[in-house]
Amino acid sequence: MTVIVLEPNESSNAENETAVDGELDVPRRNAFGHDFRDFEKESMRNAIVQECYRKNHIYQTCEFANKKKEEYGKLNKAEMSIWDLDEPQIDHLLQTAEAIRRDHPHEHWLHLTALIHDLGKVLLHPAFGEEPQWCVVGDTFPLGCAFDNNIVHHQFFKENPDSRNPAFNTKLGIYSENIGLDNITMSWGHAEYMYLVAKGNNTTLPPAGLFIISNAPPWSLYFPDER
Ligand SMILES: [Fe+2]
Repeated sequence: MTVIVLEPNESSNAENETAVDGELDVPRRNAFGHDFRDFEKESMRNAIVQECYRKNHIYQTCEFANKKKEEYGKLNKAEMSIWDLDEPQIDHLLQTAEAIRRDHPHEHWLHLTALIHDLGKVLLHPAFGEEPQWCVVGDTFPLGCAFDNNIVHHQFFKENPDSRNPAFNTKLGIYSENIGLDNITMSWGHAEYMYLVAKGNNTTLPPAGLFIISNAPPWSLYFPDER
């Protein structure tokens, strides 16, 4: 397999502003100078992405996410090597790990985290249930409380049954102040699944690695003023 590692666009680095949320520095662009998100472009791809978000926002309920966590938490679907993935996925993982190794050469745990961060996308594979795209990829968000206005394509939540549940319609919903992300039900997807796989296999990654894997990417939490 040939892996093409793109050279980062150095000229873009000066414009690469970061948002600081507590101690978390989040870049707006990747190491190659590309914006992570551009929802304004009119294209076929965006139409497909929009449809994926529509279904995601309608069908991701608190009950749905908890059932998926219970089902997939058993870790009884299949065993697969990282090299069994299709080539674009492997390329993405290697490029991410190499870019992070360049920027943080001594943080070995972070290189490994990057290398495995998207492996939960095996949920799309027949051996792991062949789940539809809308419950595997895309931004994640908290369930059991009001859907934040900053969540991308917020308008689709109108059709989500949880929107009509009074217990879920306040800012805190079923939670209490400072309960911690560990105790929040996030929308189901590859990130949550990879977290369960890592935990279930007694990973030696530090908590920060698990945080990165399990919370990638709750965009509305990182950039609350952007849509
Ligand atoms: Fe990724």
